[in-house]
Amino acid sequence: MNTFIQDLQDEIEQHVAVHHPFLKKFSTLSLSIGQIQQFGLQHYQLVKIFVNYMTILQPRIPDPSTSTLFRHVYDDEFGQHTIFRSHPALYRNFLKRLGLQDNDWGRITPLPEVSRFVELHMEITRDEDFRIGLGAIGPGHEFSIPHMFSYLVKGIEKNTSLEPEDYEYFTFHIIQDKHHAEIFNELISHYNTPEDRKLIREGALKSLEARRIFWNGLEKAIFSPVLTLK
Ligand SMILES: [Fe+2]
Ligand SMILES: [Fe+2]
Repeated sequence: MNTFIQDLQDEIEQHVAVHHPFLKKFSTLSLSIGQIQQFGLQHYQLVKIFVNYMTILQPRIPDPSTSTLFRHVYDDEFGQHTIFRSHPALYRNFLKRLGLQDNDWGRITPLPEVSRFVELHMEITRDEDFRIGLGAIGPGHEFSIPHMFSYLVKGIEKNTSLEPEDYEYFTFHIIQDKHHAEIFNELISHYNTPEDRKLIREGALKSLEARRIFWNGLEKAIFSPVLTLK
């Protein structure tokens, strides 16, 4: 791994979005099923759109190795030959196990912070320089997700009686996204000028800033009045 990627990963590991107060509260406080449902429905808005960022970004990357590299990520996202194990399907399974139904996730009004997160990532992958997109989706998502999801898994295990397969969406990502991050790192390592690196880092930080705001929104919605952690 080159030092640019290593430094960027170190920076992300320290980012407030990755250890946000929402995540700390979710993993340590006692949560009602209603609170977990609320989190689950809002977070689903990000889950169901994620693969679109990749399909929008991919044709914009002028590197012939992209399609072979992305293929592994698509296989995981789309569920390895069965749509019933696509990532959004695994997530809906989690929602069902929380007692929710189609109607619930079909009808939900996203928080403004949730809509903004999705809009920003659509804009980044569609309109911005592809290197900003690579930074946002690679280090900004794939690398940071295992850290954030570890908090979520703790909260789910502590506060529900769900079986491990009911929340495998989260445990899967803690493992799979480490591999996905390596795939993006491989791509990123083809772009080595100072300008390349500046844009890749900019994309990662833009994504994490949106993530910070996303968690702020959830914190307000789920833990209001806001509690303070010691
Ligand atoms: Fe995924
Ligand atoms: Fe991933």
